Amino acid sequence: MIHGVIFDLDGVLVSTDELHFKAWKMLAEELGIDRFTKEDNKKQKGVSRMESLEVVLSKGNKKYTQEEKEEFAERKNNYYKELLGELDEQAILPGAVECLKMLKSKGILIGVGSVSRNAPLILEKTGILPYIDKVSCGLDITRSKPDPEVFEVAANKLGLNFEDCLVVEDSLVGIVAGKEIHMKTLGVGPEHAQLRADYAAPGLAADIDWKGILGA
Ligand code: G6P
Ligand code: MG
Repeated sequence: MIHGVIFDLDGVLVSTDELHFKAWKMLAEELGIDRFTKEDNKKQKGVSRMESLEVVLSKGNKKYTQEEKEEFAERKNNYYKELLGELDEQAILPGAVECLKMLKSKGILIGVGSVSRNAPLILEKTGILPYIDKVSCGLDITRSKPDPEVFEVAANKLGLNFEDCLVVEDSLVGIVAGKEIHMKTLGVGPEHAQLRADYAAPGLAADIDWKGILGA
């Protein structure tokens, strides 16, 4: 029986992926890396800022010190935050609010489990925050997905056993993380069919068998 649903944020509730890509692309160009593409960007889904930076740097051929890398990550985050300035409810993905309302009406607790350190800002700017019971984000954890820490923290904050939670994710690392601690998993997004989740749907606006999932 599912008592709580823990949503990943980027690519599940909101469409920020394009903004992440733009900000990384700006940094890549400044570093003389012109081979960073949308395909590479897919590998950044669900992983931390520093790990995402490594994806960009792997497309160039220079070595950098830890200090330089930290400056690059900060620079990218400043570009990203500038782009987030424009963010409003239009960034909410189709079906997300309806889904949150439906779950709430059934007494299901709602959590967010995102490795983004910008998650609180994004939830606030898009107006999603009032639907969320507890937020677990990059500020609460030291290990990024596929480590399950972010979902463990979410379940603990919600006061739920791991196996009574469903994780909704658009990344493979996120599905792996949820399964690791025996949470049920629902894969969404463009790659939903390849995520090997317990359940799959193109997005939250799809015809999802919530009754079956929640009662299972
Ligand atoms: C999400 C995105 C990743 C990003 C990570 C950290 O999981 O899918 O692409 O690297 O958050 O985001 P942040 O906002 O902390 O840089
Ligand atoms: Mg995601």
